[in-house]
Amino acid sequence: MCGIIGYVGKEDATPYLLDGLRRLEYRGYDSSGIAVLDKDGGINLQKCAGRLENLRRQIGDKPESGCCGISHTRWATHGEATDENAHPHFDQSGKLVLVHNGVIENYQKLRDDLEADGHQFLSQTDSEVLGHLIGLAYENQNGVKESNSEERLVAAVREALKKVSGTYGIVVMHVDAPGFLVGARLGSPLIVGLGKDENFLASDVSAVVAHTSDAIYLNDYDLVCLKSDEFKVERIDGGAADFQVSQVEFSAEDVELGDYPHYMLKEIFEQPESIENAFRGRLSDEEASAMLGGLQMSPQELRDVDRIVLVGCGSACHAAMAGEHIIEALSRIPTEVEIASEFRYRNVPLDKHTLVFVISQSGETIDSLGALREAQRKGFRVLSLVNAVGSTIARESDGGTYMHSGPEIGVAATKSFTSQLTLLTLLGLLLGRMRDMSVSDGQEILREIRALPDKVREVLKQNERIKEIALKYVEAPGMLYLGRQFNYSTALEGALKMKEISYIFASGHASAELKHGVIALITEDLPSVFVAPKDSVYEKNMSSMEEVKARKGPVIAITTEGNQELERIADDVIYVPDTIECLNPILSVIPLQLLSYHFAVARDCDVDKPRNLAKSVTVE
Ligand code: M6R
Repeated sequence: MCGIIGYVGKEDATPYLLDGLRRLEYRGYDSSGIAVLDKDGGINLQKCAGRLENLRRQIGDKPESGCCGISHTRWATHGEATDENAHPHFDQSGKLVLVHNGVIENYQKLRDDLEADGHQFLSQTDSEVLGHLIGLAYENQNGVKESNSEERLVAAVREALKKVSGTYGIVVMHVDAPGFLVGARLGSPLIVGLGKDENFLASDVSAVVAHTSDAIYLNDYDLVCLKSDEFKVERIDGGAADFQVSQVEFSAEDVELGDYPHYMLKEIFEQPESIENAFRGRLSDEEASAMLGGLQMSPQELRDVDRIVLVGCGSACHAAMAGEHIIEALSRIPTEVEIASEFRYRNVPLDKHTLVFVISQSGETIDSLGALREAQRKGFRVLSLVNAVGSTIARESDGGTYMHSGPEIGVAATKSFTSQLTLLTLLGLLLGRMRDMSVSDGQEILREIRALPDKVREVLKQNERIKEIALKYVEAPGMLYLGRQFNYSTALEGALKMKEISYIFASGHASAELKHGVIALITEDLPSVFVAPKDSVYEKNMSSMEEVKARKGPVIAITTEGNQELERIADDVIYVPDTIECLNPILSVIPLQLLSYHFAVARDCDVDKPRNLAKSVTVE
């Protein structure tokens, strides 16, 4: 959460910073700010509450010129979304500015001590305390030559960071060291973008990809010094850092909206390609199996796996729940799902043949990362299923597989979810074929996986029809989502999509649970969305639907093409092409994504930046 970008080069920093903030806004959008070192050696700071648009207006058409600056877009943790709490923050001297992503857990004690020494704070944030600490350390630097401001600043950052506990990705700038930025990270992402006569520090590569595709993904405890034509990466404690320059695998165009009104819609419509990217090069006709070399496990090691624990948050957790069904059905390996935030603080019994799999689109979700580290601390091999190349979870896991979905910018997960399901099916297939799955069953799965992109296109053709349904129910006070077996998690995912972007209450349930309590909610006003393909539990689902109709509840049904029968019971029916049972969620979730999208648009909600949320949750 929070996006930061720093620029040092030969051009005016402001346009670079504003453009970078625009691309990082999905990480937080409560307030934003920018500080540029102007040509007279002063710091020009502009910041305000609200969307980036407010900051643009404040800056107007007379941006302060200067070739070095830092900026920030905030997701509030400590202190409300006000002008004062927006970053960057000055130190006590007013000569140093800092932007911070993360949480300084011991900030109150540090603040009390600093206040006792006469420091005055202008905000309620934990971040400002860190700025003051660094500024104080800078003033007090002995042992470093007075004249070498850059060295003094680096030493001050090192010293101050020793005193804080918590997480940070920071960038610091000082008037005494023009054209020089210092960054450091622990627990919050930070990358270096290397350009020609210009360099960047940012929370993620999307902020710099318009200017360079050379990036360094910093590790925890790395510290970087940056000038326009020079960079140095070290450990915060002064040791040598292990880093490499990587090529960003997407372009600036990939992070543009194109002709779509919202990223969410764009990403929903990208699913035929993103699903294909997930399985491309990973299907083996010869073995009627999947090839997942990135797992870095020998056939023997894979055979020895006798239990799988899938870990994730939000939509990634819902994908894990579908994965549990898929893997167990295809390979018969007992599989469990753990919410990452619970797993990391729970003593989950694992044994040496347990495989832990962390699922995360961003690869930066702090709870998922915490779960990974907890399992590794106990000596377990942890694999990951991640979209963002070079992200922390991808780098720290012992192997895994990338989704290759391309950047997902809308806060609501869409294409990453269907890619996760695709890859979990490949995993189930691979493990299944190492055990009892027959060649012909393996071949059928391969056939159906290959057919998915076209089937998804068929579903997307119903966009207008789904919009009509959304408009019909747009005044509904809430929505229930019901599904069974493979589609129980589809129901949970549909409800999450509706809640997070439309702000109406929605909840997902296993259909048969209705009569154990939820049915009490049914009224003429509360629609129920049933995910009811023609599968092994279809009749059971239909009975639950009848129970809702008997109480006058409106029903929207998602079912298999050609199955007209539900027209008799449901008020509205959406059809998805037939496929094998374990792949149905990939098709059935798409109408639910579209339903929530159109619902939110009709209710005038900010689809891509829903209130109180951020795309990548990097604080606990
Ligand atoms: O980046 P991750 O996949 O780790 O993110 C996990 C959740 O924060 C994410 O899926 C969230 O629930 C989405 N907003 C759901 O649409």
